[in-house]
Amino acid sequence: MNRYEGRRALITGGGSGIGQATVLRILAEGGSVVAADVSERGLRDTREKAAGHADRLTTLVVDIADESSVRAAVATATATLGGLDVLVNAAGILRSSHTHLTALEEFTRVLQVNLVGTFLVIREAIPALLAGRDAAVVNFSSTSAAFAHPYMAAYAASKGGVQSMTHALAAEYAGRGIRFTAVQPGSISSGMTDGSGVSGQSQGPGLPADADMGLFAKLSPALGRGFAGPETVASVVAMLGSRDGRFITGTEIRIDGGTHF
Ligand SMILES: NC(=O)c1ccc[n+]([C@@H]2O[C@H](COP(=O)([O-])OP(=O)(O)OC[C@H]3O[C@@H](n4cnc5c(N)ncnc54)[C@H](O)[C@@H]3O)[C@@H](O)[C@H]2O)c1
Repeated sequence: MNRYEGRRALITGGGSGIGQATVLRILAEGGSVVAADVSERGLRDTREKAAGHADRLTTLVVDIADESSVRAAVATATATLGGLDVLVNAAGILRSSHTHLTALEEFTRVLQVNLVGTFLVIREAIPALLAGRDAAVVNFSSTSAAFAHPYMAAYAASKGGVQSMTHALAAEYAGRGIRFTAVQPGSISSGMTDGSGVSGQSQGPGLPADADMGLFAKLSPALGRGFAGPETVASVVAMLGSRDGRFITGTEIRIDGGTHF
């Protein structure tokens, strides 16, 4: 499948987990990609894994929580690609704690990266996307936006915000040629969930030592034998960002192997 031939994509969080898997998937489908991440180590790993497509991959360090960093990165990405058709906002962090013991800085940091950071990248990318072809933005919500995840109040709030923002943006730009969708992953193996990422930025779920696991309604996917690999989300993101998703906007797709049905 070469759905991305001639398509130009910017992917944040491209140095680990689902973002990295999406970089590899879109490259494999013929796209030109700028992979952006706060972790130079993660981006190096992405370059190594994408060695066969080096001519269509550029990597860029960005801190999506920082307005000036985002401005510079999106400008560089757009100039490198000669425009922009697809934006994938996969960068994010997870922090878990008892809410009554959560410092204000911890709470606002999660919102600043996951929600404000996603807004900043979108805002800076919109002018280029308006001039793009079949433009599409894929945001990262989470099953925590719809199903109770204890000890993750800030994370759940940030992902609920991303999901609602996706709907608002879809309405605002539907008539101007940009689609906005979100994925709701759950039970996906990555730096965030099991420390298998390489970026060095992820801390794993970090649940409190005395967490009551009985509070999680369901933890295991109905499909398969446990967590799935990040490529199971990347394939859905690739569909949403391609012309195959051209009649989909303002909604989200849950990819959790049936953990939450
Ligand atoms: N793995 C799951 O089960 C799951 C479930 C729900 C949602 N998600 C979402 O999927 C997305 C990808 O996460 P993942 O599971 O692959 O985790 P991951 O930790 O492997 O990847 C996240 C990437 O984001 C980068 N990042 C973090 N802060 C950044 C910043 N300020 N600026 C730029 N880059 C930054 C990290 O360096 C890392 O490379 C996240 O938005 C996450 O919230 C994952």
